[in-house]
Amino acid sequence: MTVGKTFSEVTFSTQYVLDQPSRYNLRMKRAYQLGIIGHPIGHSLSPIMHTLAGEKAGLELTYEAFDVPPDELGGFFDLMLDGWLDGINVTVPHKVSAIQYLDGLEPDAARIGAVNTVFRRDNQLIGDNTDGYGFLQSLKENAGTDPKSRPVFLYGAGGAARAVAFALVDAGAALTIANRDAGRAARLAEELNRAGGVVETAGWEAMNLIDSVKAADIIVNTTTVGMKGSGEGALPAMQGIHEGQLVVDIVYRPLNTPLLQFARERGARTLDGLWMLLRQGARSFERWTGAAFPVEAARARLAAELGESNP
Ligand code: ATR
Repeated sequence: MTVGKTFSEVTFSTQYVLDQPSRYNLRMKRAYQLGIIGHPIGHSLSPIMHTLAGEKAGLELTYEAFDVPPDELGGFFDLMLDGWLDGINVTVPHKVSAIQYLDGLEPDAARIGAVNTVFRRDNQLIGDNTDGYGFLQSLKENAGTDPKSRPVFLYGAGGAARAVAFALVDAGAALTIANRDAGRAARLAEELNRAGGVVETAGWEAMNLIDSVKAADIIVNTTTVGMKGSGEGALPAMQGIHEGQLVVDIVYRPLNTPLLQFARERGARTLDGLWMLLRQGARSFERWTGAAFPVEAARARLAAELGESNP
């Protein structure tokens, strides 16, 4: 039996349970069918954390990973609109191309120009982006840091950088962006400045950005440098890192990246990328289900999954 629609168009199935000989007790049971799409979908941690969150919240919930090639994306969203799934996460390479199949975007997704979350509302598919929110929440909740009016240095100008940079600009930070492809950094900075940001760029060579790294209160890596499988690689001007700074890496494989190790040796505080992953997931989960997401329990579970202790 389907009764009305909630935010994520939840299916209510009613179960009559014989409680006492004289009366029936009505129990409402919610069933959520969720998932993540990507290509390849690889070893996504999302099914693990959302399944755990469903268990903790006492929900009947499935969350599966789907490998969807680009030419099947439209068909996938048709099925979702037909009611097959209540909500999904979207990952590489579909975060931008998914938009053409959606009926509407939440403001964060519209500004970033990419979606990581889709839900149904009034029989329409709506896209949202919780990456920037997740990043900012991790700064505030897990590093006790508010970036308002603070100089922030950002490595990278790719998809992940966009979400992080818009969130930082919104939060009132003054940004310096450096990217291997300098044109990409310039275009992102221009867009952010048009949106009211205070954003500069610096060349990728160490000599061009060492002063900005030294002067920053917060340093963030959004590039894939340091990620397992993407080669060794060091970030330029890391030598500028010093005590009193907060260094954030959004890479979480490995949890303890070369950048974070180096920053700790220098006496800087660090924040690893698992916090952002958890907090973007928490926001998506809460949007789909309205239930709270168990951040600490999910963190312990994912750290174990990554084969690392939970720092
Ligand atoms: P994502 O969505 O994960 O951000 P992306 O859009 O492909 O993926 O962006 C990857 C980022 O990592 C970019 O900033 C990229 O720099 P370029 O724009 O110059 O390609 C950066 N990156 C990847 N490999 C790199 C490397 N070996 N050295 C420096 N930067 C690198």
